[in-house]
Amino acid sequence: MSKEKLLYDSIRPVSWRNDGLRLLDQRVLPKEEVYRHITSTQALYSAIKDMVVRGAPAIGIAAAYGAVLAAKEAAADTAIAFEEGFHQRLDFLASSRPTAINLFNALEAAKQVNNPITELLGWAHQWLEDDISANKVMGVYGANCLSSKARVLTHCNAGALATGGYGTALGVIRAGFQQQCITTIYADETRPWNQGARLTLWELQKEGIPATLIADSVAASLMKKGAVDWVIVGADSVCMNGDIVNKIGTYSLAVLAKHHGVKLMIVAPTTTIDLNAKSGDDIVIEQRSSDEILPKDYEKGVVNALNPVFDVTPAELISVIVTEKGVIESPDARKMQALIEQL
Ligand code: MRU
Repeated sequence: MSKEKLLYDSIRPVSWRNDGLRLLDQRVLPKEEVYRHITSTQALYSAIKDMVVRGAPAIGIAAAYGAVLAAKEAAADTAIAFEEGFHQRLDFLASSRPTAINLFNALEAAKQVNNPITELLGWAHQWLEDDISANKVMGVYGANCLSSKARVLTHCNAGALATGGYGTALGVIRAGFQQQCITTIYADETRPWNQGARLTLWELQKEGIPATLIADSVAASLMKKGAVDWVIVGADSVCMNGDIVNKIGTYSLAVLAKHHGVKLMIVAPTTTIDLNAKSGDDIVIEQRSSDEILPKDYEKGVVNALNPVFDVTPAELISVIVTEKGVIESPDARKMQALIEQL
Protein backbone atom coordinates (compact mmCIF):
# COMPACT_ATOMS: atom_id res chain seq x y z
CA MET A 1 0.00 0.00 0.00
CA SER A 2 1.37 3.47 -0.83
CA LYS A 3 1.01 6.41 1.55
CA GLU A 4 -1.02 8.30 -1.10
CA LYS A 5 -3.85 5.73 -0.81
CA LEU A 6 -4.29 6.00 2.95
CA LEU A 7 -7.77 6.71 4.32
CA TYR A 8 -8.86 7.88 7.79
CA ASP A 9 -7.03 11.19 7.60
CA SER A 10 -9.54 13.89 8.51
CA ILE A 11 -8.06 15.46 11.67
CA ARG A 12 -5.71 18.47 11.72
CA PRO A 13 -5.14 19.80 15.26
CA VAL A 14 -2.54 22.48 14.41
CA SER A 15 -2.67 24.95 11.52
CA TRP A 16 -1.81 28.55 10.65
CA ARG A 17 -4.74 30.91 10.06
CA ASN A 18 -5.04 34.69 10.00
CA ASP A 19 -1.54 35.38 11.28
CA GLY A 20 -1.84 33.00 14.20
CA LEU A 21 -1.93 29.38 15.25
CA ARG A 22 -5.21 27.51 15.26
CA LEU A 23 -5.13 24.82 17.94
CA LEU A 24 -7.83 22.25 18.63
CA ASP A 25 -8.18 22.49 22.42
CA GLN A 26 -7.41 18.99 23.73
CA ARG A 27 -8.45 19.85 27.29
CA VAL A 28 -12.12 19.89 26.41
CA LEU A 29 -12.40 16.96 23.98
CA PRO A 30 -14.50 14.88 23.56
CA LYS A 31 -17.25 17.09 25.02
CA GLU A 32 -16.49 20.13 22.88
CA GLU A 33 -14.60 20.78 19.65
CA VAL A 34 -13.16 24.23 20.28
CA TYR A 35 -10.31 25.92 18.41
CA ARG A 36 -8.07 28.52 20.09
CA HIS A 37 -6.43 31.31 18.12
CA ILE A 38 -2.89 31.91 19.36
CA THR A 39 -1.11 35.09 18.32
CA SER A 40 1.72 35.56 20.84
CA THR A 41 4.60 33.53 22.25
CA GLN A 42 3.18 34.10 25.75
CA ALA A 43 -0.16 32.55 24.70
CA LEU A 44 1.61 29.65 23.00
CA TYR A 45 3.78 28.99 26.07
CA SER A 46 0.56 28.67 28.14
CA ALA A 47 -1.14 26.52 25.48
CA ILE A 48 1.74 24.01 25.55
CA LYS A 49 2.11 24.05 29.34
CA ASP A 50 -1.65 23.65 29.93
CA MET A 51 -1.94 20.98 27.19
CA VAL A 52 -4.24 22.76 24.76
CA VAL A 53 -1.77 21.22 22.32
CA ARG A 54 0.04 18.03 23.40
CA GLY A 55 1.83 15.00 22.01
CA ALA A 56 5.49 15.36 21.09
CA PRO A 57 5.24 15.98 17.31
CA ALA A 58 2.27 18.37 17.69
CA ILE A 59 4.18 20.35 20.33
CA GLY A 60 7.14 20.51 17.90
CA ILE A 61 4.90 21.80 15.10
CA ALA A 62 3.30 24.38 17.39
CA ALA A 63 6.82 25.50 18.39
CA ALA A 64 7.83 25.80 14.71
CA TYR A 65 4.93 28.22 14.19
CA GLY A 66 5.80 29.76 17.55
CA ALA A 67 9.14 30.75 16.02
CA VAL A 68 7.17 32.81 13.47
CA LEU A 69 5.41 34.60 16.33
CA ALA A 70 8.77 35.05 18.08
CA ALA A 71 10.31 36.63 14.96
CA LYS A 72 7.39 39.04 14.58
CA GLU A 73 7.56 40.08 18.22
CA ALA A 74 11.35 40.46 18.10
CA ALA A 75 11.09 42.59 14.95
CA ALA A 76 8.64 44.93 16.69
CA ASP A 77 10.74 45.10 19.87
CA THR A 78 12.97 48.16 19.66
CA ALA A 79 14.51 47.61 23.11
CA ILE A 80 16.97 44.89 22.04
CA ALA A 81 18.59 43.54 18.87
CA PHE A 82 16.43 41.24 16.73
CA GLU A 83 18.54 38.12 17.20
CA GLU A 84 18.65 38.48 20.97
CA GLY A 85 14.88 39.07 21.22
CA PHE A 86 14.20 36.17 18.86
CA HIS A 87 16.39 33.73 20.81
CA GLN A 88 14.98 34.89 24.16
CA ARG A 89 11.47 34.09 22.96
CA LEU A 90 12.50 30.69 21.59
CA ASP A 91 14.14 29.87 24.94
CA PHE A 92 10.94 30.90 26.69
CA LEU A 93 8.90 28.53 24.50
CA ALA A 94 11.45 25.79 25.25
CA SER A 95 10.68 26.11 28.96
CA SER A 96 6.98 25.24 28.51
CA ARG A 97 7.37 21.45 28.93
CA PRO A 98 10.59 19.50 29.56
CA THR A 99 10.29 16.00 28.05
CA ALA A 100 9.17 16.00 24.40
CA ILE A 101 12.39 16.40 22.38
CA ASN A 102 10.42 17.54 19.30
CA LEU A 103 9.92 20.88 21.07
CA PHE A 104 13.67 21.46 21.39
CA ASN A 105 14.50 20.00 17.98
CA ALA A 106 11.99 22.33 16.27
CA LEU A 107 13.21 25.42 18.15
CA GLU A 108 16.85 24.56 17.43
CA ALA A 109 16.03 24.09 13.74
CA ALA A 110 14.22 27.48 13.73
CA LYS A 111 17.45 29.13 14.90
CA GLN A 112 19.19 27.81 11.78
CA VAL A 113 16.72 29.42 9.32
CA ASN A 114 18.71 32.06 7.39
CA ASN A 115 16.27 34.93 7.31
CA PRO A 116 13.77 34.37 10.13
CA ILE A 117 11.32 37.14 9.23
CA THR A 118 10.78 36.21 5.60
CA GLU A 119 11.51 32.49 5.59
CA LEU A 120 10.16 31.10 8.86
CA LEU A 121 6.51 30.73 7.89
CA GLY A 122 7.37 28.64 4.82
CA TRP A 123 9.78 26.59 6.92
CA ALA A 124 7.10 25.99 9.61
CA HIS A 125 4.56 24.89 6.95
CA GLN A 126 7.20 22.44 5.69
CA TRP A 127 7.83 21.14 9.25
CA LEU A 128 4.08 20.38 9.51
CA GLU A 129 3.88 18.77 6.07
CA ASP A 130 6.98 16.65 6.72
CA ASP A 131 5.43 15.39 9.96
CA ILE A 132 2.22 14.27 8.25
CA SER A 133 4.20 12.67 5.46
CA ALA A 134 6.48 10.83 7.94
CA ASN A 135 3.42 9.53 9.80
CA LYS A 136 1.98 8.05 6.62
CA VAL A 137 5.26 6.37 5.71
CA MET A 138 5.50 4.96 9.25
CA GLY A 139 1.87 3.85 9.05
CA VAL A 140 2.68 1.67 6.06
CA TYR A 141 6.00 0.40 7.49
CA GLY A 142 4.42 -0.41 10.85
CA ALA A 143 1.35 -2.11 9.37
CA ASN A 144 3.67 -4.29 7.27
CA CYS A 145 5.23 -5.61 10.51
CA LEU A 146 1.87 -6.95 11.72
CA SER A 147 0.66 -10.43 11.03
CA SER A 148 -2.87 -10.76 9.66
CA LYS A 149 -5.63 -10.56 12.30
CA ALA A 150 -3.48 -8.68 14.80
CA ARG A 151 -5.01 -7.60 18.09
CA VAL A 152 -3.33 -4.41 19.25
CA LEU A 153 -3.25 -2.31 22.39
CA THR A 154 -2.27 1.36 22.48
CA HIS A 155 -1.51 3.74 25.33
CA CYS A 156 -1.96 7.49 25.65
CA ASN A 157 -2.85 9.28 22.42
CA ALA A 158 -0.27 9.01 19.67
CA GLY A 159 -2.78 9.88 17.01
CA ALA A 160 -3.62 12.72 14.64
CA LEU A 161 -4.21 14.89 17.70
CA ALA A 162 -0.65 14.35 18.92
CA THR A 163 0.93 15.15 15.53
CA GLY A 164 0.30 17.23 12.41
CA GLY A 165 -2.19 14.55 11.33
CA TYR A 166 -2.65 10.77 10.89
CA GLY A 167 -0.60 9.94 14.00
CA THR A 168 2.37 7.75 14.84
CA ALA A 169 1.10 4.69 16.75
CA LEU A 170 -2.46 5.44 15.59
CA GLY A 171 -1.07 5.95 12.08
CA VAL A 172 0.09 2.32 12.12
CA ILE A 173 -3.28 1.31 13.58
CA ARG A 174 -5.15 3.33 10.90
CA ALA A 175 -3.08 1.77 8.10
CA GLY A 176 -3.34 -1.72 9.65
CA PHE A 177 -7.12 -1.35 9.96
CA GLN A 178 -7.37 -0.20 6.34
CA GLN A 179 -5.21 -3.15 5.25
CA GLN A 180 -7.52 -5.42 7.26
CA CYS A 181 -4.65 -6.88 9.25
CA ILE A 182 -5.92 -5.50 12.58
CA THR A 183 -9.04 -7.09 14.02
CA THR A 184 -9.13 -5.59 17.53
CA ILE A 185 -7.96 -2.27 18.98
CA TYR A 186 -7.71 -1.83 22.74
CA ALA A 187 -7.13 1.71 24.02
CA ASP A 188 -5.85 2.26 27.55
CA GLU A 189 -7.67 4.99 29.46
CA THR A 190 -4.23 6.44 30.32
CA ARG A 191 -4.61 7.86 33.79
CA PRO A 192 -4.34 10.54 34.99
CA TRP A 193 -5.04 12.81 32.01
CA ASN A 194 -7.10 10.18 30.17
CA GLN A 195 -5.59 10.77 26.74
CA GLY A 196 -6.80 7.31 25.68
CA ALA A 197 -10.37 7.65 26.91
CA ARG A 198 -10.84 11.23 25.77
CA LEU A 199 -8.65 11.62 22.69
CA THR A 200 -7.85 8.23 21.13
CA LEU A 201 -11.47 7.15 21.35
CA TRP A 202 -12.63 10.50 19.96
CA GLU A 203 -10.42 10.21 16.88
CA LEU A 204 -11.24 6.59 16.21
CA GLN A 205 -14.97 7.17 16.61
CA LYS A 206 -14.80 10.21 14.32
CA GLU A 207 -13.30 8.06 11.56
CA GLY A 208 -15.45 4.98 12.16
CA ILE A 209 -12.64 2.75 13.41
CA PRO A 210 -13.96 0.40 16.11
CA ALA A 211 -12.03 0.37 19.39
CA THR A 212 -12.46 -0.93 22.92
CA LEU A 213 -11.55 1.20 25.93
CA ILE A 214 -9.92 -0.52 28.91
CA ALA A 215 -8.82 0.70 32.33
CA ASP A 216 -5.01 0.73 32.37
CA SER A 217 -4.82 -2.17 34.82
CA VAL A 218 -6.76 -4.49 32.47
CA ALA A 219 -3.81 -4.90 30.09
CA ALA A 220 -2.12 -7.59 32.21
CA SER A 221 -5.06 -9.97 32.31
CA LEU A 222 -5.82 -9.41 28.61
CA MET A 223 -2.25 -10.38 27.76
CA LYS A 224 -2.45 -13.41 30.05
CA LYS A 225 -5.55 -14.58 28.16
CA GLY A 226 -3.58 -14.29 24.90
CA ALA A 227 -5.85 -11.48 23.64
CA VAL A 228 -3.09 -9.04 22.57
CA ASP A 229 -0.45 -9.53 19.85
CA TRP A 230 1.15 -6.09 19.76
CA VAL A 231 1.46 -3.07 22.02
CA ILE A 232 1.85 -0.05 19.71
CA VAL A 233 2.81 3.32 21.20
CA GLY A 234 4.53 6.60 20.31
CA ALA A 235 7.45 8.31 22.03
CA ASP A 236 8.43 11.69 23.45
CA SER A 237 12.13 10.93 23.06
CA VAL A 238 14.12 8.16 21.42
CA CYS A 239 17.62 7.87 22.91
CA MET A 240 20.85 6.93 21.17
CA ASN A 241 20.93 3.46 22.77
CA GLY A 242 17.33 2.68 21.70
CA ASP A 243 15.69 3.47 25.05
CA ILE A 244 12.50 5.47 24.64
CA VAL A 245 10.54 7.83 26.87
CA ASN A 246 6.77 7.89 26.60
CA LYS A 247 3.61 8.43 28.63
CA ILE A 248 3.70 7.08 32.16
CA GLY A 249 2.60 3.44 32.09
CA THR A 250 4.46 2.57 28.89
CA TYR A 251 7.22 0.90 30.90
CA SER A 252 4.71 -1.30 32.77
CA LEU A 253 3.17 -2.32 29.46
CA ALA A 254 6.63 -3.14 28.10
CA VAL A 255 7.43 -5.39 31.08
CA LEU A 256 4.03 -7.08 30.78
CA ALA A 257 4.49 -7.55 27.05
CA LYS A 258 7.91 -9.19 27.54
CA HIS A 259 6.50 -11.50 30.21
CA HIS A 260 3.60 -12.60 28.01
CA GLY A 261 5.43 -12.86 24.68
CA VAL A 262 3.60 -9.84 23.24
CA LYS A 263 5.54 -7.61 20.83
CA LEU A 264 6.18 -3.92 21.50
CA MET A 265 6.29 -1.43 18.62
CA ILE A 266 7.45 2.17 19.12
CA VAL A 267 6.42 4.51 16.31
CA ALA A 268 8.30 7.81 16.19
CA PRO A 269 9.58 10.11 13.46
CA THR A 270 13.27 11.06 13.42
CA THR A 271 12.29 14.49 14.86
CA THR A 272 11.72 12.55 18.12
CA ILE A 273 15.33 11.36 18.33
CA ASP A 274 17.41 13.03 21.04
CA LEU A 275 20.96 13.06 19.67
CA ASN A 276 22.28 14.19 23.06
CA ALA A 277 20.62 11.45 25.11
CA LYS A 278 22.90 8.44 25.43
CA SER A 279 20.15 6.61 27.33
CA GLY A 280 16.84 7.21 29.08
CA ASP A 281 18.78 8.35 32.17
CA ASP A 282 19.57 11.60 30.33
CA ILE A 283 15.93 12.60 29.83
CA VAL A 284 14.12 15.02 32.12
CA ILE A 285 10.84 13.43 33.20
CA GLU A 286 8.07 15.99 33.60
CA GLN A 287 6.41 16.12 37.02
CA ARG A 288 3.00 17.71 36.78
CA SER A 289 0.92 19.21 39.55
CA SER A 290 -0.42 16.89 42.24
CA ASP A 291 -3.78 18.64 41.63
CA GLU A 292 -4.13 16.53 38.47
CA ILE A 293 -4.53 13.39 40.60
CA LEU A 294 -5.26 14.36 44.19
CA PRO A 295 -9.04 14.42 44.79
CA LYS A 296 -10.23 17.91 45.74
CA ASP A 297 -11.67 16.55 49.03
CA TYR A 298 -8.15 16.40 50.49
CA GLU A 299 -6.06 19.22 51.80
CA LYS A 300 -2.48 18.97 50.63
CA GLY A 301 0.10 18.52 53.41
CA VAL A 302 -0.53 15.32 55.32
CA VAL A 303 -1.44 13.51 52.15
CA ASN A 304 0.04 14.37 48.80
CA ALA A 305 0.33 12.95 45.30
CA LEU A 306 3.24 12.09 43.02
CA ASN A 307 2.59 12.78 39.35
CA PRO A 308 5.46 11.94 36.97
CA VAL A 309 3.86 11.88 33.51
CA PHE A 310 6.48 9.96 31.50
CA ASP A 311 8.66 6.92 32.03
CA VAL A 312 11.63 5.24 30.35
CA THR A 313 11.30 1.94 28.49
CA PRO A 314 14.70 0.29 28.06
CA ALA A 315 15.73 -0.81 24.57
CA GLU A 316 15.86 -4.50 25.52
CA LEU A 317 12.07 -4.55 25.98
CA ILE A 318 11.37 -3.09 22.53
CA SER A 319 10.68 -5.35 19.53
CA VAL A 320 10.79 -2.63 16.84
CA ILE A 321 11.18 1.11 16.48
CA VAL A 322 9.42 2.35 13.35
CA THR A 323 10.66 5.64 11.86
CA GLU A 324 10.04 7.21 8.45
CA LYS A 325 13.61 6.21 7.54
CA GLY A 326 13.03 2.53 8.25
CA VAL A 327 12.27 -0.08 10.88
CA ILE A 328 14.82 -1.01 13.55
CA GLU A 329 14.36 -4.46 15.06
CA SER A 330 15.68 -5.02 18.59
CA PRO A 331 17.13 -1.48 18.81
CA ASP A 332 20.57 -0.79 20.25
CA ALA A 333 23.25 1.90 20.09
CA ARG A 334 24.84 0.55 16.90
CA LYS A 335 21.52 0.43 15.00
CA MET A 336 20.55 3.90 16.23
CA GLN A 337 23.90 5.28 15.04
CA ALA A 338 23.37 3.69 11.61
CA LEU A 339 19.95 5.37 11.41
CA ILE A 340 21.38 8.76 12.33
CA GLU A 341 24.02 8.45 9.62
CA GLN A 342 21.21 8.27 7.02
CA LEU A 343 19.73 11.63 8.04
O1 MRU B 1 1.51 14.43 28.05
P1 MRU B 1 1.22 14.22 26.60
O2 MRU B 1 -0.20 13.96 26.30
O3 MRU B 1 1.83 15.33 25.76
O4 MRU B 1 2.03 12.90 26.25
C1 MRU B 1 1.97 12.40 24.95
C2 MRU B 1 2.60 11.08 24.80
O5 MRU B 1 3.17 10.53 25.72
C3 MRU B 1 2.59 10.47 23.43
O6 MRU B 1 2.55 9.08 23.51
C4 MRU B 1 3.86 10.88 22.68
O7 MRU B 1 4.02 12.28 22.69
C5 MRU B 1 3.85 10.42 21.28
S1 MRU B 1 2.65 11.25 20.33
C6 MRU B 1 2.80 10.85 18.71
